[in-house]
Amino acid sequence: MKPTVDLLIEDIGRLVPGKTAPLEGASVAIDSGKIQAVGPARKLAGLFHPEQVIDASGKLLTPGFVDSHTHLVFGGERSNEFIQRCAGADYEQIAATGGGIRASVRMTREATLDQLIEEARPRLQRMVASGSTTIEIKSGYGLDLETELRLLRAIRQLGSECPAEIVPTFMGAHEIPDEWRDSRQEYIRILCEEMIPAVAEEGLAEFCDIFCERGVFDPDESLRILRAGVEHGLKPKIHADEMAASGGSLVAAEVGAVSADHLMEITAEGIEALSGANVVATLLPGTTFYLRKPGYAPARSLIEAGLEVAIATDRNPGSCTIESMLFIMGLSVMQMGMTPLEAFRAATHAGAKALAREDLCGSIEQGKRADLILWDVPDEEVLIHEFANEVPRTVWTSGQFVSDLLPGINSPVDEPDQGV
Ligand code: NIG
Ligand code: FE
Repeated sequence: MKPTVDLLIEDIGRLVPGKTAPLEGASVAIDSGKIQAVGPARKLAGLFHPEQVIDASGKLLTPGFVDSHTHLVFGGERSNEFIQRCAGADYEQIAATGGGIRASVRMTREATLDQLIEEARPRLQRMVASGSTTIEIKSGYGLDLETELRLLRAIRQLGSECPAEIVPTFMGAHEIPDEWRDSRQEYIRILCEEMIPAVAEEGLAEFCDIFCERGVFDPDESLRILRAGVEHGLKPKIHADEMAASGGSLVAAEVGAVSADHLMEITAEGIEALSGANVVATLLPGTTFYLRKPGYAPARSLIEAGLEVAIATDRNPGSCTIESMLFIMGLSVMQMGMTPLEAFRAATHAGAKALAREDLCGSIEQGKRADLILWDVPDEEVLIHEFANEVPRTVWTSGQFVSDLLPGINSPVDEPDQGV
């Protein structure tokens, strides 16, 4: 007797598994939320009794996207800064005069838990509809214990209702808040001795991240804060070498960070340090584009140095509002010289690695979570060429149709909100 499986996606025109080489004419069997088998269509047809069959001939099947770097939960909005930048103002100048992250902090401190959740929910819905099935979200617009905990609780609530897996990161070291700018050492002490222990105690975060940048946290401060995180079980991540070569990649290597992110200004020494320490290099070209910066991160040098390169949206209220991973893939191919298949690996398997989840998701392989996207195009080249236009035909998270889980998507305007 052939074993029964929940679903067979059959005769797939082209399958991009994320980690390994593409396949043509394959099928994928799914059961209990996991990928049961991947192989030639004729072979799989004889092996299982599927409850449901989907004909995917002529279509492209890929893993769900792993968006490993976002700041999705915040109060208010900063379109004014975008208009100022388009008229010639600079991101760091705006930040130095009290705008930027600190403007979002003031608005976030005013927001209730429910407001933070309500405002983030449609962003998250759009991300899932565009194919992101694992999404990291950072705190970092509170910068005091009470508001940072509120942000992390909002992230937890969104995670419990969202069909995608939500991965929480504590980023109290996003900026020095207004009230501690004359005694920054005291804020760093509070971060290490009060905030990190409280976040860990409530189990609200898996990672600890820091903005190591000129004018924000320097390498020594970054090292101290990330080490305090490690002592409390929070895995380190770092915003490194974004606006200037500030030594962040060296800190990443020294502390054994899971990923170093941005890297627009990384040096040869930084690249060597990351590759020696097996740190994932996460590139955020949406931010470079959105800030109208001339220099994208050196993706080719990083790939040639043997690093695992991930890409992510960096969705946040100021420096990048792009939510679509496909759009980010398009930018990666256009502006950083990645091939379509490199961009796919970066948006799936490498993203999972940047979240220490490569055994769970990010590739179409037996035993992985059945997080999948079916696209109405024949292959990844056609898809990338249409990066600003294409939307998934179907998204599955843990083997379930997202459209069944997200009835609010594409519904009439008067239908009540259904949650994520
Ligand atoms: O990743 N670099 C620091 N943090 C965000 C920007 C946040 C903001 O401008 O609100 C980033 O780009
Ligand atoms: Fe960021």
